[in-house]
Amino acid sequence: MSILVAYYSRTNVTKKLAEAIANETGADIEEIVPKVKYEGKIGFARGGRHAISEKIIDLEPLSFDPCDYALVYLGTPVWAGKAASPMISYIKQNEGKFDNVKFFVTAGGSGFESTLEQLEKYVGKAPLKTLELVTKQVKHDEFSDELASFIE
Ligand SMILES: Cc1cc2nc3c(=O)[nH]c(=O)nc-3n(C[C@H](O)[C@H](O)[C@H](O)COP(=O)(O)O)c2cc1C
Repeated sequence: MSILVAYYSRTNVTKKLAEAIANETGADIEEIVPKVKYEGKIGFARGGRHAISEKIIDLEPLSFDPCDYALVYLGTPVWAGKAASPMISYIKQNEGKFDNVKFFVTAGGSGFESTLEQLEKYVGKAPLKTLELVTKQVKHDEFSDELASFIE
């Protein structure tokens, strides 16, 4: 089965998970890179504002077309109880192109449910599975059981 992992990550936590999923499944991997910068303190504040207002932003060119895949994993950090703006922008840019989806989300500890609901609303279909992990768990490599059942 053709599989794509598309993710956004500001501080490499969601990235670690995305790479683990791609390694385990043999999927192609797309890092979503925004044109607007979210680094540093100013970037943090901008990220919060953009997430709250569900701002659609420009992205750097993509390498893969989700249409070509039977399953797409979408991964994002939680920003202010929502998905990071680059992920929402990616979904918007690829509207109607997703067949089967699974969502993976990382956060310090809160906002998982509202983020998953928002992802489902933007994609327009329910995910086959979801994976919610706290930042600490990912950093300490404590997610192998959760990962195994997520990619099953
Ligand atoms: C702008 C911004 C808002 C955030 N809001 C939340 C939040 O509402 N709840 C939470 O638990 N963590 C929040 N976080 C923390 C991140 O979700 C968490 O550190 C995540 O694992 C980072 O993933 P990344 O390294 O892939 O970017 C926020 C981080 C940023 C930058």
